[in-house]
Amino acid sequence: MEKILVLDFGGQYNQLIARRVRDHHVYAEIMPYNGITVEQIREEGYRGIIFTGGPNSVYDNTSPHYDPAVLDLGIPILGICYGCQLIAYMAGGRIEGAMESSEYGMVTLYSGPSVLYDGIPDESIVWMSHTDYVNRLPEDYTITGTTAKCPCASMENASRNIYGVQFHPEVTHSQYGNQILYNFLYKVCKCSGDWKMEHFIDDTVEQLREKIGNKGVVLGLSGGVDSSVAAALLSRAVGKQLTCVFVDQGLMRKDEGDFVENTFTRLFDMNFVRVNCQEAFLEKLKGVSEPEEKRRIIGTEFYKVFWEEVRARYSGGYFAQGTIYPDRIESGKGDAATIKTHHNQVKMPEDITFDGVIEPLQDLFKDEVRKVGEKLGLPRDLVWRQPFPGPGLGVRVIGEVTAERIRILQEADWVLRDEVARSGYDEKLAQFFAVLPGVKTVGVMGDHRTYEELIAIRAVTTDDFMTADWAKIPYDLLGRISNRIINEVEHVNRVVYDITQKPPGTVEWE
Ligand code: XMP
Repeated sequence: MEKILVLDFGGQYNQLIARRVRDHHVYAEIMPYNGITVEQIREEGYRGIIFTGGPNSVYDNTSPHYDPAVLDLGIPILGICYGCQLIAYMAGGRIEGAMESSEYGMVTLYSGPSVLYDGIPDESIVWMSHTDYVNRLPEDYTITGTTAKCPCASMENASRNIYGVQFHPEVTHSQYGNQILYNFLYKVCKCSGDWKMEHFIDDTVEQLREKIGNKGVVLGLSGGVDSSVAAALLSRAVGKQLTCVFVDQGLMRKDEGDFVENTFTRLFDMNFVRVNCQEAFLEKLKGVSEPEEKRRIIGTEFYKVFWEEVRARYSGGYFAQGTIYPDRIESGKGDAATIKTHHNQVKMPEDITFDGVIEPLQDLFKDEVRKVGEKLGLPRDLVWRQPFPGPGLGVRVIGEVTAERIRILQEADWVLRDEVARSGYDEKLAQFFAVLPGVKTVGVMGDHRTYEELIAIRAVTTDDFMTADWAKIPYDLLGRISNRIINEVEHVNRVVYDITQKPPGTVEWE
């Protein structure tokens, strides 16, 4: 399989670069600049290298540098932002930094002839974010693009296949960024585009069969996207040799446990074990209202029940989990030490030893995981499921968790989801749910005074969940949601909408 190396110098868009490359059907992997040597790059046989951006200045002693021998490998290179400056610096050019030349945001690029700009008009919009710029070109390089403030917005040494762009082609604000990456991948690196999810499925199934042989595999299924897709993939590979353990603590959304069970027992060949343990969980949560304590109890109990079940069925073999690529890399640090050891997600009890851990999705980004899930026949509702916290409704019932309070929340949340889905507005929301704050308010129904529960609606838009905005849901939709919740959910007489941004608020209430 052909592959591109994304050499990470600490910029904020590094995962995005790899994702964009993969969108063009070329496999890309990210390595921190100090995690791979020139010799290793040569041995790996990369088709091309992309130097990422970074927050630094090349003249700063602490800034990340790389062995200039990389320029002599004969492998095509594209430097982006800091990556472009680094190429210029390594090749003998000069970098300058001045506030007057700094650019941030959308800027007009005037581009000249270059294979990178094939099919692109001479004037186009690009996204810039820099103070330093290349002020003297290295020998044998030419300028291929300028902006009003930046004399070298792009440069190249075409005979050596080395290119640099000061702007960020990977962000959607760069009008023809995708075409520029395409040109680099297909016209410079001469890729053929062999990274397709169908191939991934076929190859992975084959590798899994070979590795697992006739042994068993145990997978903890949460009903989330990653573990569900991992289960579907393993099912295709080894069928009944796979045992999925689904611990249902009764803290999922309405009917969700049944949906997960139906999906995996009807559509996939495997041993499916569902452990219903709501009562035991509620017993442990009795009288507990402190959020972190609730989280701790739910987490501890979950693993206790899970491992008891695994222990009861244990007969050797492998342990599988749905780790995905972003779980393993931490972008923006450019430091090998920050690569997480990827077996740290589930703590194994000492008395159970497996032949190994299998993570069939470990090289995939989330959107690729979803594509694989769709191709394997998982229902849309599961593949496109919105994020759901591990402790489930336990952190959306504020204060003490009881069976009745979970029921009220589940009903209200179900109405919310139904109404949002009918309006088609769910496509615009990153996450939306109901919260039961545990506040009673006075109301009037018919001629009667009521004193019942309050429901809060939380709906956010966000790209990364680090920051989020409250969604501007149309008033008429909010009105229908409120009416239906009050009419259909017993013991609720008031609905409010949460209009808090993150920060300072968090997405969840607890
Ligand atoms: P916050 O509330 O921190 O949420 O703004 C950001 C995202 O993380 C999810 N979340 C959790 N996920 N265990 C999880 O697996 C948790 O304890 C947890 N708390 C929050 C939240 O749903 C949102 O998508």
